[in-house]
Amino acid sequence: MKMKKLIVALIALALTPSVSFAAPKAEVLHWWTGGGEAKALKVLQDEFAAQNGVWLDMPVSGGGGDAAMQTLKARIVANDAPAAAQIKGPTIQEYDEEGVVAPYNIDAVAKKEGWDNLLSKQVASHMKCDDGKAYCAAPVNIHRIDWIWANKKVLDSNGIKMPSTWAEFNAAADKLQANGIIPLAHGSQPWQDATVFEAVALGVGGNDFYRKAFVDLDAATLGGSTMTKVFDQMRKLKGYTDAGSPGRDWNVATGMVMEGKAAFQIMGDWAKGEFAANNMAPGKDYICAPTPSNNGYLYNVDSFIFYKVKGKDKVEGQKLLASLMMGKNFQKVFNIYKGSIPARLDVSMDEFDMCAKKSNADLKTAGSKGGLLPSFAHGMALRLAQKGAIQDVVTEHFNSNMSSSDAAKKLAAAVKASL
Ligand code: GAL
Repeated sequence: MKMKKLIVALIALALTPSVSFAAPKAEVLHWWTGGGEAKALKVLQDEFAAQNGVWLDMPVSGGGGDAAMQTLKARIVANDAPAAAQIKGPTIQEYDEEGVVAPYNIDAVAKKEGWDNLLSKQVASHMKCDDGKAYCAAPVNIHRIDWIWANKKVLDSNGIKMPSTWAEFNAAADKLQANGIIPLAHGSQPWQDATVFEAVALGVGGNDFYRKAFVDLDAATLGGSTMTKVFDQMRKLKGYTDAGSPGRDWNVATGMVMEGKAAFQIMGDWAKGEFAANNMAPGKDYICAPTPSNNGYLYNVDSFIFYKVKGKDKVEGQKLLASLMMGKNFQKVFNIYKGSIPARLDVSMDEFDMCAKKSNADLKTAGSKGGLLPSFAHGMALRLAQKGAIQDVVTEHFNSNMSSSDAAKKLAAAVKASL
């Protein structure tokens, strides 16, 4: 009986055409290990598998991706690049300059699918290599950084409205603290300190100030008196955090707001992915509002870069991934879980929640009023060395007794040294 089966199998094999079919394959390096993040990523993994793709998962946990960036660097130095990696902003072009990126693997897909017509010029330009000639990365979303998240019950029972100025925020936080509630859920890790800092800078300094400081790296703005005021507000915020804050992960901080242990969190809208994953609804269980600013909007586009790889199966894997990432339905489903809004311009917002709809509307307003600005804390504005220099000073100030004016001076000096 066994022998008969073997013979049948051998005959079947002999009759199979000799063209070898290798399934598309991709090793994907990312840092999406939080609840909402993992749920969103699974949409892509499932779509890839449904097209016979073999996904080799390379997660490097650590919010904001600082740890992932280090692992990635080590892999590139060892000449062992993954097929795709989650990277953003100018870091994409930085890697291209090193000659390790493979723009022409996915550019054909982008041309065929007309990505130039599906994306805003701003988003598209972040995705291109070879002096803007070819797509080398695919965008999956637009996250907004400058958000405050609040537990609705906590605000209601303390008679507090969502603040719309930083003075109102401080007054609300003072009241909550007097009532024994932690005003601000925060995890003091360098990237989280920088996330809060850039939202404060946008509000306290304004759009032009933000651009001059964190896009143009203007020394006088970095070290000046407005920057001192930004650090003053950071010092205030530090006083609203709890003793357990240092080192806490961002999603644990979101959990404190969900449970009502803390009232507010200042964080990008991946925090909404956590609320959503726990079946909490905006307007009912929690409130979202932009941090106070003058029609500002700090954007953060998650994207995947495609490196030079050997083997047809890997190149095919890259092409399939790129095409799926830009899929219309994928960008809807993924972003509903992730908390962001689609990077594609033609996805209907009908099924999105009120916070996403607000993000989408505010993005347009900010665009027309000069307030649409790249997040430096999330790698959209600056190269890694400058981002790191600013982040280090911000977190040092937040976790010490450094004066605000010393911090501003140190900021300007650190940026200068990093250039
Ligand atoms: C951001 C990233 C988001 C989210 C967040 C926390 O940099 O753009 O997608 O993952 O970090 O990990």
